Amino acid sequence: MKTGRNFAFLITIFLFPIFGAFGQQNSSFSIVPQPASIKMKPGTFRITNQTMLLVAERDIDLKNVAILFAEQLRLAGGPFLRVEPMLDETSDGNAIIFAFNKKRESLPTEGYRLNISPNGILLTGNSGAGLFYGMQTLLQLLPPEVCNISKPEEGKSWEVPCADIKDEPRFPYRGMHLDVSRHFFPKDFIFKYIDLLAMYKMNIFHWHLTDDNGWRIEIKKYPELTEVSAWRVDHEDLPWGERPPQEAGEKATYGGFYTQDDIREVVQYAAQRYITIIPEIEMPAHSVEVLAAYPDLSCTGGPFTVPPGSYWPNSDIFCAGNDNVFVFLEDVLSEVMELFPSEYIHVGGDEATKTRWEECQKCQQRMKEEGLKDEKELQSYFIKRMEKFINSRGKKLIGWDEILEGGLAPEATVMSWRGVEGGIAAARQGHDVIMTPTPYCYFDYYQADPQFEPKAIGGFTTLKKVYSFEPIPEELTVEEGKHILGAQGNVWTEYIPTPEHAEYMAVPRMIAIAEIDWSPAKLRNWDNFRQRLDSQFERLEYMGVNYSKGSFKADIHTHYDPKSNKVQVILSSEQPGIPIRYTTNGNDPTAASTLYTAPFDIAANAYIKAALFVDGKLKEKPSEMPVIFHHAIGKPVTYLASYSTRYPASGPGTLTDGIRGNTNHRDGRWQGYLGTDVEIIIDLGKEMPVRSVSTTFLQNSRSWIFAPSMVEFSLSSNGKTWHSVYEKRNPLPEKNEEILIQPFSNAYPLDAKARYIKVMAYSSGNCPDWHEGKGEKCWIFLDEVVVY
Ligand code: ACM
Ligand code: ZN
Repeated sequence: MKTGRNFAFLITIFLFPIFGAFGQQNSSFSIVPQPASIKMKPGTFRITNQTMLLVAERDIDLKNVAILFAEQLRLAGGPFLRVEPMLDETSDGNAIIFAFNKKRESLPTEGYRLNISPNGILLTGNSGAGLFYGMQTLLQLLPPEVCNISKPEEGKSWEVPCADIKDEPRFPYRGMHLDVSRHFFPKDFIFKYIDLLAMYKMNIFHWHLTDDNGWRIEIKKYPELTEVSAWRVDHEDLPWGERPPQEAGEKATYGGFYTQDDIREVVQYAAQRYITIIPEIEMPAHSVEVLAAYPDLSCTGGPFTVPPGSYWPNSDIFCAGNDNVFVFLEDVLSEVMELFPSEYIHVGGDEATKTRWEECQKCQQRMKEEGLKDEKELQSYFIKRMEKFINSRGKKLIGWDEILEGGLAPEATVMSWRGVEGGIAAARQGHDVIMTPTPYCYFDYYQADPQFEPKAIGGFTTLKKVYSFEPIPEELTVEEGKHILGAQGNVWTEYIPTPEHAEYMAVPRMIAIAEIDWSPAKLRNWDNFRQRLDSQFERLEYMGVNYSKGSFKADIHTHYDPKSNKVQVILSSEQPGIPIRYTTNGNDPTAASTLYTAPFDIAANAYIKAALFVDGKLKEKPSEMPVIFHHAIGKPVTYLASYSTRYPASGPGTLTDGIRGNTNHRDGRWQGYLGTDVEIIIDLGKEMPVRSVSTTFLQNSRSWIFAPSMVEFSLSSNGKTWHSVYEKRNPLPEKNEEILIQPFSNAYPLDAKARYIKVMAYSSGNCPDWHEGKGEKCWIFLDEVVVY
């Protein structure tokens, strides 16, 4: 039905909503990241085979975005729209129009306006990127089935609710990182990863292409990088930290690399989605895989092999005194810069142990010649020299925050990972900063109770915690804050061997980063985000993304009340409004189990299990917590040596609150002692029969926590004279990298009477010789002293 309405008129209806009404948010829309402003309107627009998809100008970006949109609809079984130029500014009204904003000044480069009325859709932006983001919003307004391209359904109605949306990003840098060295990920997965970034309006893919465990990019001038450095001996069956190095005669069969053609293909795929790929080539450390092929670039001359697992400390690094190292790196970067149009080139710079430099004649000679006072200044020399080269090619250098040490290169951008302090320092020096601090942005950390999660490197960063991150630290002035370009999520893959696992770790936490980076700070709202995620989960399921439901875990908190001699149990979750059901007898909760409505009391031994149920279905594995009612529960503890304020658990009541910790050392139930013995006395209040005393200690050497070397229990009636009833040495092997809970308990009933119980747990003081923390203070973690 032709109405002959002209385009100018169409623009008129679309562009005259009153933008003063913008700003109010409507949660019935599930757009993520939250747009800067949405105004909902009555009605819908239905896309059919008759709908015209028009581009207002002959422009490569307009066409690109329109084709991507049409393709998505078609692949999902939707209408088949042909992209056509809009002739003589007329349209029949049943049209989707993609156009550049005529008044470009009213929108920032990456901004867009999306106006949906019952007559049609008008998407305008100032750039291809802006239009692409508007197109992503439009896709999110279509039913979730628009993401179903694997088994598309026929006969769906493709309706879009009417609205006026005006949107733009908060930060110019919205990034996700992926480490493809620790494990190699095939090109197809890289495309899928880029699709996820694009869906959430992220614009940077930081590709960690080289590291100790494998070089992943073809460099024509140095073929050994892909013949030797890309391959390691296959010990994938062993834990990351326990893999022996390659022996003579063993073949290096595990690895892979991207050819230059692969790289070009990926770069183009990303560019089509307005994503810049920042390549990272690590230097001076995290480079032993290069030294395995080119040992002359080291300080010692080698030989080296590509390590199949943990490699710490990073002693064997590029020699800073050897000019051939710079020739090599400049050659490599020349090819890299040919392949990647990115303005930024990442040179790593992190975790360089300087022991080889301290002993190397050439490095020391360099320091003398250049007047460098220590090895930190030598690293600074190294990075500055690389920066000069990178700048000479019209590009900019990024490095991890260690590049601050010894003096920052003049133009460098700093990626702040060891907290935000490096970022603050750099911003104050007038340098640009990307924020990616470990506690919020490291997605190799656990996201839910480690007891039930696939093994991760450590840490504990839930979805809600990620979402709480604010990239601009309060310490900065407004001017300094402008140097914060944005935040990035990092996926390091030591413990992530497959694409499915990488998805599990990255999603949905990356969506939280996307919203932090895109949406106005004042619109950030956890409950609202959580609700908007539901529709995203549906989409992710259609896309076959193995996302984590860890944010749907129930949290169990307990509190012992000495007056009533009861333990109060409080259940909660990150998910407001979703019912929690529980049991207290150790059985798995079902949809028929008790619904949690308010805190409840426990007065006897119990085993609590709790889980969230959506539509009667278990959402994620239950959480569990044993509550032990023993003689010492609620009894006062005297500390002869004090615990660390860093791990107080719930303070002085922790060891007698009936609650044990789990394998997560940050679960708030473990009390930590740094470099000292544990020495405590429990007062039972009156003399009573004591049949057993038991304790449990955490062993987690990766987090520098070691079970004590010996544990001793003594009893006393008066608190003055003691007799020892138990003494046991730590039965664990000295070198132990498993995370486990080690019990110490008398084997036979004690048949004793006592009022006071003393627990001594002897620390070895320092981390052992084999450990990365050798000679530094180590931890003892204790959770409960159980007395019967
Ligand atoms: C890093 O995590 N070493 C940057
Ligand atoms: Zn050297």
